[in-house]
Amino acid sequence: MSMKKTAIATHYLFVCHGKDCSKEGSKDLKKQLTQELKKRKGHKIKVVKSKCLDRCKFAPSVVCGNHWYGKVRTKDLAEIIQDLEK
Ligand code: FES
Repeated sequence: MSMKKTAIATHYLFVCHGKDCSKEGSKDLKKQLTQELKKRKGHKIKVVKSKCLDRCKFAPSVVCGNHWYGKVRTKDLAEIIQDLEK
């Protein structure tokens, strides 16, 4: 079997769905991120749920590449997206 290489996005936003982040609303954050991105045309950002990202004391955690966002709230989502679009 040969490896297949595909790219469906230029950025992958990992939203932790571990125990602590879930308690702090990460599932809603993922939904809100997805909805916010649907409003924007032409973006190449994919929102993905993840297991614990080992930053539980900063729950809820969101990671994109080497950017870590902790204690993320709804009001922060637009700023996170803008960071990725730069
Ligand atoms: S539960 Fe989210 S970083 Fe651990």
